[in-house]
Amino acid sequence: MSEHNSNKPVTFQEKLEKNVWALVLATAIIVSVGGIVEIVPLFYLNTTFEDQVHPEYEELSGVRPYEALELAGRDIYQREGCYLCHSQMIRPFRDEKDRYGHYSLAVESKYDHPFQWGSKRTGPDLARVGGKYSDDWHYQHLRAPRSVVPESVMPNYPWLEKATIDGNGIEKRVKAMKILGVPYTDEQINGAAASVEGKTEMQALVAYLQVLGTMVKFEPGRDYRD
Ligand code: HEC
Repeated sequence: MSEHNSNKPVTFQEKLEKNVWALVLATAIIVSVGGIVEIVPLFYLNTTFEDQVHPEYEELSGVRPYEALELAGRDIYQREGCYLCHSQMIRPFRDEKDRYGHYSLAVESKYDHPFQWGSKRTGPDLARVGGKYSDDWHYQHLRAPRSVVPESVMPNYPWLEKATIDGNGIEKRVKAMKILGVPYTDEQINGAAASVEGKTEMQALVAYLQVLGTMVKFEPGRDYRD
């Protein structure tokens, strides 16, 4: 034992490791430095804050909050786990742009709480699927994907046609979105329940799919980077 009690001086690290509060404090200081190094540069970037966003993102965008029916469809999209097989994020690479269209802009998902970007692509990206097919195509595809795309591995969703949307629930959801900063008007909130009256979950989901990627009108050949 005695040789362990050597006269070696106790190092700073040893002291720190043996005093839990000193260790917590030192860790907090180090982590804060790391955080500051990452966060401070953002204060000097023009695109960080909404009011400083490049005007093109705002003016050309035409991005608006989802209508009540589209919002209901978005909830169903999440409930059914569509995001487990579909991303909504076109990356800025040529193969992606050739297949799906202009890469996704941040402004396009500014009213999405939470984002549906994802990265899992068992099926194709859906960020710009709006307007690609007719409503009837979507109804048939959701009912029985293999009846329109024989090799599809997408599940059937026949129950969406039978269930209807709960108007009161949607009004609450629109209000919740407003709390999160989505600029819904009182008129939109009060009219939410009536606007989804009698609609099926299928109609709501397709209304949502049909608006995806259609809010920004892109000029061909133009690059929208800052
Ligand atoms: C198990 C994975 C899986 C799930 C879950 C899934 N899909 Fe799909 N989806 C696919 C595959 C694979 C395709 C490509 C074949 C086809 O068109 O059916 C596809 C295609 C699509 C297409 C056509 C896209 C295009 O550009 O041609 C749409 C729209 C779509 N899915 C919507 C949905 C919705 C909405 C849900 C949730 C209700 C959903 N998918 C759930 C795998 C999935």
